[in-house]
Amino acid sequence: MLTLRSPAKINLFLRILSKRVDGYHSLASLFQAIDLADEITFTPSHTSRDHLTCTDPSIPTDPKNLILKAAHLFRRKTGFKQYFNIHLSKKIPAEAGLGGGSSNAATTLWACNQLSGSPATIENLLTWSSEIGSDIPFFLSEGTAYCTGRGEIVQNLSPLQLPSERKMWIIKPAFGCATKDVYANLKLVSLPPRDVEEELKSSLAGNPAYFNDLEEAAFTVNPALKNFKQELLSSGFETVLLSGSGSSFFCIGKNAPPTLANTKAFQVNFTSRKQNSWYL
Ligand code: C5P
Repeated sequence: MLTLRSPAKINLFLRILSKRVDGYHSLASLFQAIDLADEITFTPSHTSRDHLTCTDPSIPTDPKNLILKAAHLFRRKTGFKQYFNIHLSKKIPAEAGLGGGSSNAATTLWACNQLSGSPATIENLLTWSSEIGSDIPFFLSEGTAYCTGRGEIVQNLSPLQLPSERKMWIIKPAFGCATKDVYANLKLVSLPPRDVEEELKSSLAGNPAYFNDLEEAAFTVNPALKNFKQELLSSGFETVLLSGSGSSFFCIGKNAPPTLANTKAFQVNFTSRKQNSWYL
């Protein structure tokens, strides 16, 4: 039996560069893992199928779940024959832009590799993972990474720290955002020009650049999100930025979250993992 944490992520910045012929978008993003995390337990099964259970009844536990896709992918790539009973203790909100499903998939690949005597390298896992989702490779980095391509080209970076004395909150409204819809409403020509390499340098030198090219598209899909951001700013945060395709925001600059109806708030910190171990 193996129990592993499965952390969420935020995009400290997210630049969309172009639309590709395969329908995906080329991006350049500084990804950061945070300590809001699910927990997944893997128990070898004597049957010839995986069985997934979850504390949250709204999460599908059928073969569409990325955990089951990842276990299947690992067996296909390595010839590993073991199946598992898998229990997902869910804390990361879904449709929030926090990468919960992608993180669960990366955690499953790591677990399968551990439980089968490590036939794959981390580079193998990372390359394979991009076949089932663009955000999964990031979670096989060490927690801070600059990701390009459609997200699957991952450059590991030294761990970043939250700006000193600052608390960070993830605040999620009751509704979620579907990633596909947000990308479909993106107006590339309206995006402000930016030198993304300079933004990266500045972020790594301690002057973080916070921007997200998907924010306006998410506001188009769900106009209530724009009002929600305004409310968060009016409550006194210095920085309020949509995470990924939303609907959660990361907020910096206040010691306590505002009391807003139908809203979840989590105080978070940046997290990382050591080269040969998983997130603790
Ligand atoms: O790769 P993944 O299945 O996570 O992507 C979900 C959807 O997000 C894709 O179907 C696509 O519409 C959009 N997407 C995109 N460009 C990316 C990543 C995702 O257009 N780089």
